[in-house]
Amino acid sequence: MSKKKIFILAIESSCDDTGAAILQNDTVLSNVIANQKVHAVYGGVVPELASRAHQQNIVPVVQQALEQAGISKNDIDAIGFTQGPGLMGSLLVGASFAKSLSIALAIPLISVNHMQAHVLAHFIRDKGQNIPDFPFLCLTISGGHTQILKVSSTNKFEVLGETIDDAVGEAFDKTAKLLGLPYPGGPMIDKYASLGDKYAFQFTEPKTPNKLDFSFSGLKTAILYFLQREQKKNKNFIEQNLNDICASIQYTIVNILMKKLKLASELTGIKEIAIAGGVSANTEIRTTLKKCEETMGWKTYIPKFEYTTDNAAMIGIVGYFKYLTNDFNEDNFLASSRLKIND
Ligand code: KG4
Ligand code: ZN
Repeated sequence: MSKKKIFILAIESSCDDTGAAILQNDTVLSNVIANQKVHAVYGGVVPELASRAHQQNIVPVVQQALEQAGISKNDIDAIGFTQGPGLMGSLLVGASFAKSLSIALAIPLISVNHMQAHVLAHFIRDKGQNIPDFPFLCLTISGGHTQILKVSSTNKFEVLGETIDDAVGEAFDKTAKLLGLPYPGGPMIDKYASLGDKYAFQFTEPKTPNKLDFSFSGLKTAILYFLQREQKKNKNFIEQNLNDICASIQYTIVNILMKKLKLASELTGIKEIAIAGGVSANTEIRTTLKKCEETMGWKTYIPKFEYTTDNAAMIGIVGYFKYLTNDFNEDNFLASSRLKIND
């Protein structure tokens, strides 16, 4: 007879956050994150420094996750880890640690696709959180990816549209940098935007050959030229208008995302709509999406804050689903920095 209580240790190390979580079946018992502060002074993630910080963080983070969950390492049934996509050096730290521990404990190892994990974070059982019905659309918006997916099951994802250049998180981070704000810029823009007028400045929305694709590099350039033009007239333009600039940039980006999502819903007839990834922490996208329940008849799914940006709990839920189907790794698995959504 199969064991009812399954404990999964999950490890996330794809970029600059070292995460470990313990799940008991689809419920999170602990979810620990060590954020790496070291990158802020460089205005972006420095891969070499990220790998070193993961090396330092991984053992204490895993120990903390076990302690908070109140279990010992001998209780773990399997280890899930992020196989990709992400920074190769960072991925290798998590993958090597997970592989070694699984051999030491003689338990299965489960590789997890980070992008699938962002989407499937919606299946973590939590009070007050609804779980989407299949098929649903998921707008995955993060620092590395921007995709509209049709999700037909826990392992069937169809890309309906994606960015042809920068990811939306990059658009936030790069424009924040132009404004002199520290990395990561998304949460900073969100913060100042809450005090500003979103209609103060208009930016043209980029066009893409496929109507469901995104393009953000042109927007970044348009904002750069706009700031240069205004600063010629008034060298204090940014500091005097920071809130309005942030609100206008955020509004423009959210508008672009929402137009494509509405089109995807129209074309597929799907009204179960989820968002996922770091940018789904954004206040404007969360409130705009929620309004669509009334205006569009959508059922919307917005992740809890702790499951939006990179975290190990989302790796754990995919680990749990794969555990149920005995989808384990061979000893010779590889971390893969360019993993695609269906890999
Ligand atoms: O999912 P994530 O943690 O990492 C990747 O897999 O990329 O996403 C990180 C991205 C960063 O670009 C960050 O600026 C953005 O998410 N972000 C936000 C907010 N919180 C995080 N962007 C806009 N508003 C926010 N509140
Ligand atoms: Zn991510």
